[in-house]
Amino acid sequence: MKREEVIVPREEIARQGEFQERIKAMFAARGAHPLARVETFGCQQNVADGQRIMGMLEEMGFAFTEDPGEADLVLLNTCAVREHAEQRVFGNLGILTHSKRENPEQVIILCGCMAQEARVAKRVKESYRHVDLVFGPQALWRFPELLWQVYETRKRVFSTAEEHGSIAEGLPVVRERGVKAWVSVMYGCNNFCSYCIVPYVRGRERSREPAAVLAEVRELVEAGYRDITLLGQNVNSYGNDLDTGYHFPDLLEDIDRIPGDYWIRFMSSHPKDATPRLFDVMAKCAHVAKQLHLPFQSGNNRVLEEMNRRYTREKYLELIQHARDRMPGLVVTSDVIIGFPGETEAEAMDTVSLVEEVGFDALFTFIYSPRPGTRAAELPDPAPREEKQKWFDRLLEVQNRHSAEVHAGYVGKTVRVLVDGESGDGDFPLSSRTEGNRLVRLKGDKALIGRFLDVRVTGSNTWALYGEPV
Ligand code: SAM
Ligand code: SF4
Ligand code: F3S
Repeated sequence: MKREEVIVPREEIARQGEFQERIKAMFAARGAHPLARVETFGCQQNVADGQRIMGMLEEMGFAFTEDPGEADLVLLNTCAVREHAEQRVFGNLGILTHSKRENPEQVIILCGCMAQEARVAKRVKESYRHVDLVFGPQALWRFPELLWQVYETRKRVFSTAEEHGSIAEGLPVVRERGVKAWVSVMYGCNNFCSYCIVPYVRGRERSREPAAVLAEVRELVEAGYRDITLLGQNVNSYGNDLDTGYHFPDLLEDIDRIPGDYWIRFMSSHPKDATPRLFDVMAKCAHVAKQLHLPFQSGNNRVLEEMNRRYTREKYLELIQHARDRMPGLVVTSDVIIGFPGETEAEAMDTVSLVEEVGFDALFTFIYSPRPGTRAAELPDPAPREEKQKWFDRLLEVQNRHSAEVHAGYVGKTVRVLVDGESGDGDFPLSSRTEGNRLVRLKGDKALIGRFLDVRVTGSNTWALYGEPV
């Protein structure tokens, strides 16, 4: 894939701006103030995409509503990673037949990862005839043009062809107000873990130019964002396609030079590409939060091989050891899958024992979900669901016990936090995060939101710490 084929030319982005203007003029001519309901499912990449979609809609003159009933346009930005996520979206789509019946002018849009699956596009084409527009992540930058087609022709538009993927700079964005922001540094995935749909729906890996990432982070820091997360399916392969010898640790070092009071985090890291240099750079960069999300998926080498993860349990443990040696007190989190096809109870218990051995600060745990089109979906999967659920419960028990212990260890200590919003809890009305991204519910006034503070931890449970400013 040549770099020139990946970068969307500036003129093309400008042309999309013209479609935005056309749609805006169309509503203005009717004296209408259109409303859009945008709902995003899935990971932070998708959230970041959703913010671009909202940026484009805002340029078209849309304001936003939570209520699909009053919306002129309803957009579902979907996730395909597990079956449950897809079922939820089909459920939501079904419900939208009602709002469409009340308001036949309403435009209904399905986009995101599910939309890129041929199987899903076909089902929507045949059975969800109230959906007007379907487009995958690869076509995101062309959303204004696709939407214009819908308004102009009043026909259904499907843009779901398989594409290698592109990089579009300069799209408008609507960010959440507050202190947190997401910055995609790369798109796509080349790893083809055998259970995972992401490489099929997000195309091949492509890295944004370092200068574009640096400019965006600088802008965010200047605008008052204090907790910035760099996103990529595997940030450790950032730069491989730039052919300049510039890699993720270089990017971290360059970002760290941006002056200001802020934290930089990143996710996800793939253990097969994590290097000692990454940890050395993390350790020395003051703005880089001492937190590492390093998904291991399984603690058994046979299962890891079947998953096509390309590292072993031993290599993973070595990496964690190295990272902790370089950064004492490092907060480590991970993703794990229980019940991969053919996994035995003993193999699942290897995963539980790895969790015990490492002592993760938090864990994102999943029961395997077959994804049509992936290699693992073809494998025999004899273990019954109830059996997998038992293994899963054992894993959760170990992790929850450990989380509660770690949290209890904080009581009486003073930690630095960033106050990031309201918690909805009457006694501890503020929500804040430590550098390690641990949730601390706080006593105090709303005026503290956006500030870094020292707080004394007064209580804890499995999920959160409680405290008050000192
Ligand atoms: N690229 C990231 C990585 O490799 O760590 C993760 C991306 S994926 C969106 C997030 C997590 O979903 C994965 O780490 C994995 O644990 C889980 N996952 C992916 N496919 C799955 C499947 N078919 N069934 C269950 N969990 C799955
Ligand atoms: Fe999926 Fe593996 Fe790529 Fe992560 S690295 S997105 S788990 S294929
Ligand atoms: Fe993310 Fe789901 Fe797509 S996890 S990359 S939104 S399949």
